[in-house]
Amino acid sequence: MAKKLFVRTWGCQMNVYDSQRMADVLAPLGYETVDAPDAADMVILNTCHIREKASEKLFSELGRLRPLQTEKAQAGGRMILAVAGCVAQAEGAEIRARAPFVDMVFGPQTYHQLPEMVARAARAAGEPIVNTDFPVENKFDLLPETTAAGGPSAFLSVQEGCDKFCTFCVVPYTRGAEYSRPAAQVLSEARRLVAGGAVEITLLGQNVNAWHGDAPAGGTWGLGRLIRALAEVPGLARIRYTTSHPRDMDDDLIAAHAEVPQLMPFVHLPVQSGSDRILAAMNRKHRADDYRRIVDRLRAARADLALSGDFIVGFPGETDADFEATLRLVRDVQHASAYSFKYSARPGTPASGLGDQVPEAVMAARLETLQALLIEQQTAFNAAMVGRTVPVLFDRRGRRAGQLLGKSPWMQSVHADAPARLSGTIADVRIEAAGPNSLTGRIVTGAFASGADAAALGVPA
Ligand code: SAH
Ligand code: SF4
Ligand code: F3S
Repeated sequence: MAKKLFVRTWGCQMNVYDSQRMADVLAPLGYETVDAPDAADMVILNTCHIREKASEKLFSELGRLRPLQTEKAQAGGRMILAVAGCVAQAEGAEIRARAPFVDMVFGPQTYHQLPEMVARAARAAGEPIVNTDFPVENKFDLLPETTAAGGPSAFLSVQEGCDKFCTFCVVPYTRGAEYSRPAAQVLSEARRLVAGGAVEITLLGQNVNAWHGDAPAGGTWGLGRLIRALAEVPGLARIRYTTSHPRDMDDDLIAAHAEVPQLMPFVHLPVQSGSDRILAAMNRKHRADDYRRIVDRLRAARADLALSGDFIVGFPGETDADFEATLRLVRDVQHASAYSFKYSARPGTPASGLGDQVPEAVMAARLETLQALLIEQQTAFNAAMVGRTVPVLFDRRGRRAGQLLGKSPWMQSVHADAPARLSGTIADVRIEAAGPNSLTGRIVTGAFASGADAAALGVPA
């Protein structure tokens, strides 16, 4: 009988990808993914350590799972409880000290070793497994090929880890050194994803544009070259990449935005702060104007390119003037969307030891101001779409019956009345209304197999 596997994922898209790969590794062992933890034979919590609340969420989830684990044991079964991801890597054995009913704790670079770890856990209940090694072999070479029939929009990790050591950030410690998967491996995974129904692939990496992988015929490629090769995969209509770092935005990648039509005109380019003093203290190794210049070059390559970013307010020592500089940068760049966070002191990072921590109330006020500006810009960006016709990749059901939800090239959510069979296809949608977080429109052309479909939706044939 199939064993039930429940995986819960927090954090970045790379964790989403990793969760799928863990399910891929466990499938040959008889584990089938289910969508609730009740009576599961194994539960994996794939965690994130980036900000404070992340690990608190882990422990409250563990608290909720414990009775389910007990119930399963009382019924004569066993629920293996596992903690994976960045909290597992950062806290290791500490997790078991706080939650001794956890069976396995293992870090992101050990996922290919899951079959062994599960076999050990299954043999010896009570013998804890804590694996936070950075193995010499690379997991990507040893994970089974993805089985993902993952829907029209798929993630593909090409790069992992970080050598940049921003002073606030745990990622270099939880993910290890920068690693780039070889191009041939990436291309074959992309072909599999497309064969499984993917129309769009988002290339993932903690610094995805630092990717420099072995080329299929010797030498190395950069991300721009890889994207050009991916553009030749038949059926792959859209290519995206995230998260990129300003320092790794090279000429060839920028040129790819001008030359590769499948490369979507939307770049998530974190900047964190608009103050050079704070950027230096963060060890970002670029100035605010460097960021402005990169944005100019991207827009020179592709005029309709939209930017998103990440921001931290309240980094230690941040003054009102520093914060004003951040607001100025946001106004200059006109981000179409963004994530913004209060600085969170992370154990073991250099910034956590700095004096001059910014009071909570000041951080909260700055975050509110910044978010108000970002939302204002996002709303204006969305409003400018009204009356335009944009291609939308429909990838899920909409709010209402008879509606589908999809994404514009600029990552906007778009609702439209559409038959379910258009899910997984790209259709032209005339935008009729816009809010801060989504657009609504009407399908105008291209996507209909029959005139009857078109007539049913009121589209002129
Ligand atoms: N590699 C990417 C970011 C990865 S982490 C880059 O360099 O831009 C994702 C985002 O989380 C960061 O961009 C940052 O805005 C935020 N973040 C990371 N550490 C943080 C911390 N200690 N406190 C608050 N936000 C943080
Ligand atoms: Fe963290 Fe900086 Fe690396 Fe991004 S570049 S993952 S923020 S250390
Ligand atoms: Fe979180 Fe680790 Fe991603 S800390 S953001 S899950 S790299």
